[in-house]
Amino acid sequence: MDVCLGLLGCGTVGSGVIELTRRRREKIFELTGLRPKITKVLVRNLQKPRQVALADERLTADPEDILGDADIRVVIETIGGIEPARTLILRALAAGKHVVTANKDLIAAHGPEILEAAERHGVDVWYEAAVGGAIPLIRPLKECLTANEITDIKGIINGTTNYILSKMTATGAGFAEALAEAQALGYAEADPSSDVDGLDAARKLAILASIAFHAKVRLEDIRVTGIRHITAADVAYADELGMVIKLLAVGADRDGLLSLRVGPALVPKDHPLAHVNGSYNALLMRGDAAGDLMFFGRGAGSMPTASAVVGDVIEVLRNLKLGVTGQAALLCRPDKRVLPDGF
Ligand code: NAP
Ligand code: HSE
Repeated sequence: MDVCLGLLGCGTVGSGVIELTRRRREKIFELTGLRPKITKVLVRNLQKPRQVALADERLTADPEDILGDADIRVVIETIGGIEPARTLILRALAAGKHVVTANKDLIAAHGPEILEAAERHGVDVWYEAAVGGAIPLIRPLKECLTANEITDIKGIINGTTNYILSKMTATGAGFAEALAEAQALGYAEADPSSDVDGLDAARKLAILASIAFHAKVRLEDIRVTGIRHITAADVAYADELGMVIKLLAVGADRDGLLSLRVGPALVPKDHPLAHVNGSYNALLMRGDAAGDLMFFGRGAGSMPTASAVVGDVIEVLRNLKLGVTGQAALLCRPDKRVLPDGF
């Protein structure tokens, strides 16, 4: 049986989602008994050339074509930003459609509102692609590691800045040249200042820390410094000291007091994070039972991100087949407090 999907956005991520859904359609049917079919795609500009050739998918500039289509059971949001993504997602949920989103801006700022709306309407919201591109991070934290007290999360969770810093380190390239390459490769946000000023990493840290530490973490709780001011001379000086510069996101929970920050750091060359280069991301976590864990993989780009999005779509289809919803609400403890200046 076919299940119709509506796709909001057809840029870097949306194009990858179309391609991967097509490529895996029969495999997904074998796995779930349901065959995903993207029938409509919302864009802003109908005339713009697309990175993927459209076949059965119909382009529209009118959200009503998707939200008002009763055949569409699942809406995939790859527009980005807060509005109109927030309103479209809330309307999709109210219409009884499941939602998969790659939008960390939205989940970091309005996650509770979106998750509560999904619960109220008896549907799911999945957002694995919002953090770490292809790397499974949200579901391992929400589902596999809940027996642990997670005390530390630390890593590289922005592909654009890691690409820039790696390029500056390896080739002596300048900041602007490396940023332009990251943009051309589809890693950067529509407004790349989110990447270079550390906000994208902070949004991802807010999402991860909320789940890992069972706390309500807001973007304002995180001390953020970007890499805009890093020069080729800084990179060369770090090299002389046996270090590399990385933009790190760091979260710690010490007996219910949280410290959260994003900023450039000197990392010794023999540290595992020093070897994470290009658009790759890596996250170290420490749990009291699990001990140290390290997650590594491509953190940005069309197909790596589509991997996470389509993985979420498959979970929705599994649930549809079983007639259940499967996205557990976030566990939240009232005793957790974020320290304004860390510790
Ligand atoms: P993008 O290339 O800029 O694509 C955005 C798409 O949304 C475009 O097709 C655009 O339409 C459409 N759009 C924008 N505003 C719209 C509006 N008001 N109404 C209708 N359509 C609209 O962005 P992206 O890189 O694919 O990123 C999409 C989302 O995925 C963002 O939330 C981003 O943070 C997240 N994400 C991106 C990556 C990555 O590596 N790029 C990785 C993980 C998560 P037009 O094409 O007509 O302009
Ligand atoms: N702009 C983001 C990054 C995309 O560079 O990591 C992936 O979330």
